[in-house]
This record gives sequence, structure tokens and C-alpha cells, in this order.
Amino acid sequence: MDGNGRWAQQRHRPRLVGHRAGARAVKRCVEFCLQRGIEALTLFAFSSENWNRPPEEVGGLMKLFLGALEREVDELHRLGVCLRFIGARDRFEAALQARMQAAEDLTAGNTRLALTIAASYGGRQDIAHAARTLAEDVAAGRLRPEQIDEHRLGARVALADLPAPDLFIRTGGELRISNFLLWQLAYTELWFTDTLWPDIDAAVLERALADYASRERRFGLTSDQVRRPSSGRTS
Ligand code: FPP
Repeated sequence: MDGNGRWAQQRHRPRLVGHRAGARAVKRCVEFCLQRGIEALTLFAFSSENWNRPPEEVGGLMKLFLGALEREVDELHRLGVCLRFIGARDRFEAALQARMQAAEDLTAGNTRLALTIAASYGGRQDIAHAARTLAEDVAAGRLRPEQIDEHRLGARVALADLPAPDLFIRTGGELRISNFLLWQLAYTELWFTDTLWPDIDAAVLERALADYASRERRFGLTSDQVRRPSSGRTS
């Protein structure tokens, strides 16, 4: 969700005004997913590196996250949204952690939209954590090193219970992944837009979906194999 700061700057307003507008854009995106039958949405709200921003900005963002949870969770629950958080949760203050847990507990049984907020999240940290849990299993004798493969590691990273993401959208004009879901994005289609996050709306999202629909996903196969699944395969 990139571009909040620039959105505010263009209006000669403090960066936090941009983040507040960014929170309104989150609501629009969730509504869009519900309307379009999209089953999973993961938003990168705060990276592991974002803790190094000026303290006023970090503090303002924490207040914004807490306020959003206080205001929005009941409505998300009513709409059938299952809300979860990924990232180093222990870095947040206790009140915010408690709100996150309560939101997860309340919405755990919902199935209409899996909404995940990546907060204090980093893709490398996610993979390192998964590797550590495997190493612990090896050390405890529950697993042999030769049993470690991409499936076992993939089962330990965040979002392992969801299908791999189909589409990655980055707003704000930068052409980078910036440590988001590094493992999970292996075959994800990437889509970039200059639109700043607070300006994202249904029209931009429709453009992203239309572009996605025009692509051929080959997962390492040839175009021919994808179009005629039996061609050239032995099983
Ligand atoms: C990146 O834009 C954005 C963030 C670090 C914060 C994202 C937070 C929100 C959208 C607020 C609400 C979110 C939830 C889940 C309630 P930037 O500040 O780096 O923008 P810039 O590149 O223009 O400076």
C-alpha cells in the first residue's frame, strides 16, 4: 500500500493525513473483493523496516491501526470476513496485540474473505522463521534433514493454509517487491500502478483484474502444454 506519504505531500499535509486516507482506501478494497467474490486479500500495512521511520509517524500509525480495529472489526465480522495478522506481533504494544487477537478470535469462523494484514512483516524473516522451526524439529528428532523440501518449508511460512497469491498489486509507482511474501509470490502475477494508495478505487482494481485475466500462467510449462493440458506429458 505505497504512496500515502506522497499523497499527503501533494496536498501540503502531514504524512499521517495520507495514512488516514490510506485506511479509507483499505475499506474500498475490502468492499471490492467482497463484491467481486475474491476470496483472499493480503495487505502490506507495516514492514519490519517501517519501525525505523520517525517516531511520530510510527506512533501515529499505531494509533491508526488501533482505531481501525476498534471501529471496523464488528462490521467486518458481519460481512463474513476472516481477519488475521502476520508478522512479528510481539513488537506491538499490548493493547494492539490484544485487539488483534480478539479480532482473529471473533472472525475465525468466517469464510467469505480471508483478509490478512501483514504488520511488522518481512518476507525474509518469514522464511527464516520457517527454517528455524524445521531446524528445531530436526534437533528434537522429529524430522530428518533429508526430509526437508520445498513442501515442508512452504507449510511453515505465513499463509500456508491459503492458495498461493494469484495477483500482486503495488501502488505508488515503485517497481519492487520490498520484502513482501517472498516465498509465496514465486508464481504470482505482478502488477504495478502509479496510482498512490489513497487513490486506489474499483476502477484501478478492475484494470488490474483485466490485465491479470489477459495473462497466460505457465508455471514453467510451455504455452502449448497450458492450452492443451495432455500435450507432451507422460502422466
Ligand atoms: C506506505 O506508504 C504505507 C505505509 C507504511 C502504511 C500503510 C498504512 C495504511 C494504509 C493505513 C491503514 C491500514 C490499515 C490496515 C488499517 P508510504 O508512507 O511509504 O508512502 P510514500 O512512499 O509516498 O512516502
